[in-house]
Amino acid sequence: MSKIIPVPPFDFVIFGGTGDLTLRKLLPALYHRFLDGQIPAESQIIAVARSDLSSAAYRGRAADALRHYVEPANLRNPAETGFYEMLHYVRLDAAAEDQDWSGLHSLLSNDRIRVFYLATSPNLFGPICDALAHNGLNQNEARVVLEKPIGRDLESAQAINDEVGRCFPEASTFRIDHFLGKETVQNLLALRFANTIFERLWNADVIDHVQITVAETVGVEGRGGYYDHSGALRDMVQNHLLQLLCLLAMEQPVSLGADAVRDEKLKVLRSLRPLELYEVPAMTVRGQYIAGAVNGKPVPGYLADLGHNESDIETFVAIKAELNSRRWAGVPFYLRTGKRMPQKVSEIVVQFRRLPFSIFPKEHTLEANKLIIRLQPEEGMRLEMMTKEPGPGGLQLRPTGLDISYEKTFGGRFPDAYERLLMDTVRGNSTLFMRRDEVEAAWQWVTPIMEAWGSRGERPRPYAAGSWGPTAAIALIERDGRTWHEDLGDGQE
Ligand code: BG6
Repeated sequence: MSKIIPVPPFDFVIFGGTGDLTLRKLLPALYHRFLDGQIPAESQIIAVARSDLSSAAYRGRAADALRHYVEPANLRNPAETGFYEMLHYVRLDAAAEDQDWSGLHSLLSNDRIRVFYLATSPNLFGPICDALAHNGLNQNEARVVLEKPIGRDLESAQAINDEVGRCFPEASTFRIDHFLGKETVQNLLALRFANTIFERLWNADVIDHVQITVAETVGVEGRGGYYDHSGALRDMVQNHLLQLLCLLAMEQPVSLGADAVRDEKLKVLRSLRPLELYEVPAMTVRGQYIAGAVNGKPVPGYLADLGHNESDIETFVAIKAELNSRRWAGVPFYLRTGKRMPQKVSEIVVQFRRLPFSIFPKEHTLEANKLIIRLQPEEGMRLEMMTKEPGPGGLQLRPTGLDISYEKTFGGRFPDAYERLLMDTVRGNSTLFMRRDEVEAAWQWVTPIMEAWGSRGERPRPYAAGSWGPTAAIALIERDGRTWHEDLGDGQE
């Protein structure tokens, strides 16, 4: 494991402090960093929300959350750790005009880094930033962190970015996409730019196509209220899947500096070929799960999960994306993501071209090479290649894999994505965060797809929970003479 470098003491203010994200991800992430000695005990974590709670009551909630979301092996007696002493609660309706901000004001120190994490609905980002500025809290070392999704389309994203931009400079604005904090996603930079062997192969001459799958077994859980205004395209594709595509497709940045990396990602987003209205039905598939079974357990459909009779929100999307660039001309990037899939798996498959000519007898089917990058679970990479089977019987060939398993190679605990990213907000390192122009370029590509779906008034296609989505998603890739990579291992959730 790499060396842990402590950050300076800071004040970390979380708006939406009683919400699901805070309890499930942010507090456990801060807890782990604290246990590892990275967070100095003089730091403060200040949860802000509308409920009428004392700090003591909030600590009780935080304790429940940690018991629930931290693996038992890593859970120490919280009282012993001092973690809880850092927690404070401030009651505030951050979007209302008549609020008294002096309670928050008095807790903050003037000589420290201050992070305002907005774990709220995006329509509150502007009003909260305004209030922070109005109350003089956006000073000096203040940073604001915006959870995705930023807006619902290009126009609303621009409006939010304008509102936030009036109160915080771009360099202090951290737009989080937690996929960028995943170890295996950061490793894409290492794979491509710390190795000699791939760069010359990383183009349309050698690569046939790329698949990016982010599949989840869960449904919408308790998040129906948010999800039913969002859907898979806004929730996953506009951010997580397009960010993965960027890291795979971008040119080598001049350095690992935040702007150098983001400049290259931006070029990829801008080179995405816009889909014309008439192409959208052939290049995209949207689905919604109906009742079925996941891992042998019967599960209800999306509407039943929501408790509604109707919804035309998609819980599955597949898209064939193309890039207008010399490197990638003619190489489709097939993206798919969905809830209630048979397996939880996030995986990238780089499919190399078939051998143009073979000296081996015709009965040998030579599989094309494939690089499979497993982002989660069972993090690792496998390069599939043809190998001679040992023994007599002539040259018998079979596809085999060069495998790297994170667990076997590195062992130990892999920090959650939020751990790295939260510390980066304190350090002020925005390499793994999205810049305004990136977010807007991603919306620019995605918005016409949503508009085309809307204009056709088509409902998402039903798919049984526990399947790989509507059959149209299989047709999407098979029409091109290709198939989804099905050997997804056995990483059941
Ligand atoms: C979030 C989405 O950004 O990512 C969720 O809003 C999704 O709908 C989640 O479940 C998946 O993240 P992870 O880290 O569990 O793969």
